[in-house]
Amino acid sequence: MAKKNRRSHALLRYRYYLYFILLCGLLVFAIVMIGRQAFPEKTPDVPDTPDPPAVLTDASVLPTDPPAAEVSEAPEVSVPDPTDAPPETAAPAAVSGTAHITPTAENLYVRIGRSHDVPVIPAGVGRDALSYAVTDPNICDVDEHGKVTGFERGSCEVIVTCGEEEVRIPVHVRELTVGEDGCTYVDGILIVNKSYSLPETYDPGLLPVTQEAFDRLSADAAAQGLNIYRGSDYRSYSYQVKVYQSMCSGYSKEYADSVSARPGHSEHQSGYAIDCNTIENGFAETPEGQWLKAHCHEYGFIIRFPEGREDVTGYTYESWHIRYVGEEVAREIMSQDLTLEEYLDVPSVYDLEEE
Ligand code: DAL
Ligand code: ZN
Repeated sequence: MAKKNRRSHALLRYRYYLYFILLCGLLVFAIVMIGRQAFPEKTPDVPDTPDPPAVLTDASVLPTDPPAAEVSEAPEVSVPDPTDAPPETAAPAAVSGTAHITPTAENLYVRIGRSHDVPVIPAGVGRDALSYAVTDPNICDVDEHGKVTGFERGSCEVIVTCGEEEVRIPVHVRELTVGEDGCTYVDGILIVNKSYSLPETYDPGLLPVTQEAFDRLSADAAAQGLNIYRGSDYRSYSYQVKVYQSMCSGYSKEYADSVSARPGHSEHQSGYAIDCNTIENGFAETPEGQWLKAHCHEYGFIIRFPEGREDVTGYTYESWHIRYVGEEVAREIMSQDLTLEEYLDVPSVYDLEEE
């Protein structure tokens, strides 16, 4: 009896807990049911509907319109101006990755007071679409058309830009001076050509620096089995009188002027020039001629009258005539296929009064 009473007493005690749990269950059920009624369509679609419906509804509106495809792309390309938008937006896409600025020279050489165009070719745009600036306005100036004018001796860069694209070209401003010896120098380099003459009394003989450099050249060529020797070197003013007169007596003055310098205008009078081997056009094709062209700069010489540059130097191609200018200058000139005239920015034409 006692046992039975104890069990029923325990049941009575736990009965309230059971009522509480049942009540909680009913409450949860009621909340769920109310929630379902309050948000009937949302709950089942949540996982896979968000994106597709938006696109599908737009597409389902468009199919009957003919320009459907263009309409769908239009908002991405340009919204604002439909008049000139097509050409302008199409052009950059077509040339993207292509350069608008093509340099036509590694350097620009300008003498003080002279002007030259920046050596670039615009591609796909007009020259006015380019912008120009210089890194040192004391040395030179560049105008809006890309014309560089030299102010003072020195080097800087001209910067050419087109949008994001930038090209830098070194500019070297040269200075021409006339020495006490009566010779003309550009940045310290003696220049003698059709425009600049030497005094009749200038008589240095073959300069030691020229002779020493040539001896090394000749020795190194000999080590390669080649025979490069001095065919003609220093010529005085009076000797050049005879050379030039002899040319004029056998040929027209025009032809003589294309192959022989007038007295006072020959580099041979400067002591810096040497004619190698025989004065024949065929020399260029000989192993010696080929070697000389490829290596003379290593000894400070340049081929003074290069092939096809008669309009610049004033003389036809002379594969045998080398001029000493020093190794650094020779390397710059030969590596860029320049003439001395271009490097110093000087002309080579006779004064009409001398005719
Ligand atoms: N043949 C070259 C041009 C001279 O006479 O100096
Ligand atoms: Zn010569």
